[in-house]
Amino acid sequence: MEVFSKIAFLEEEMNRLQIQAEEFAPFVEASLKKMKISPKMKVADIGCGTGDVCFAVSKIVGPKGSVIGVDANQTAVKYCKTVAKRRVIRNTEFVVGDAQNTQLPSHAFDAVYSRFLFQHLKNPVACLKEMVRIAKPAGVVMVEDCDLSRWVVEPANRYVEQLWTWYEGIMKAKGSDPSIGKKLYRMFVDAGMKPQVEIYSLPVLRNNRRVWDTILGVLTKIDDGDSRELIQGIESFANDKNSLFVFPLVFRVWAKASRRSAS
Ligand SMILES: C[S@@+](CC[C@H](N)C(=O)[O-])C[C@H]1O[C@@H](n2cnc3c(N)ncnc32)[C@H](O)[C@@H]1O
Repeated sequence: MEVFSKIAFLEEEMNRLQIQAEEFAPFVEASLKKMKISPKMKVADIGCGTGDVCFAVSKIVGPKGSVIGVDANQTAVKYCKTVAKRRVIRNTEFVVGDAQNTQLPSHAFDAVYSRFLFQHLKNPVACLKEMVRIAKPAGVVMVEDCDLSRWVVEPANRYVEQLWTWYEGIMKAKGSDPSIGKKLYRMFVDAGMKPQVEIYSLPVLRNNRRVWDTILGVLTKIDDGDSRELIQGIESFANDKNSLFVFPLVFRVWAKASRRSAS
């Protein structure tokens, strides 16, 4: 079975996505500012995962605004609905759907956002087209994604290398592009938009057990005996006080949805 189908429904994977989203939380504020998210807006988040960005947006758009999160994984959608209910957040909605055919109405949203989804798609161009379709002409479209080849590990560690190479290999095997981040700018231009672009990286995850533990949690869960050495190797890297890991470079690209208009 393809690895993503195997892990998508695991509690461990939801936990990993949640912790990763929390680590990236400091960057969300900047993204929302660039999109000029403000009260009463209608916003869509495509491939919303555990919904962290939706919940951050919901605070700004307020009771007269709304946020809809779309994700292909029904476990993720259920997770988001549970969180919204527990926190009594009434201006969010979460639906199971495909990024390339969301079934959402045309020209309906002030902002359409997506993070770390495009690296999973066989046809990211179709997804961008869909995002533009559902955005109002004066609305904004923003996509954030990584270039998985741009990461730093110090001191060199063959197990971390192996994990990343393995992950890149899975992406390629399923027909998606692990370097999609750096291609987003061009993709927006080709779609007739005038994008702005910024890059950032999660500052150093030095000895960050929280993140490594969630990765190890997923690996341990799916291990059929072959990955024991890999798991132990990563564990010892994470335990090393001097280990340094810098997350792959993230590209933040955004533009007004109207074709050939200034952003
Ligand atoms: C790495 S997670 C990112 C989640 C969230 N956007 C974040 O930044 O925390 C990628 C998400 O995209 C979803 N996804 C993958 N392919 C999809 C598709 N074709 N349509 C909709 N969602 C998809 C996955 O289920 C997963 O929740």
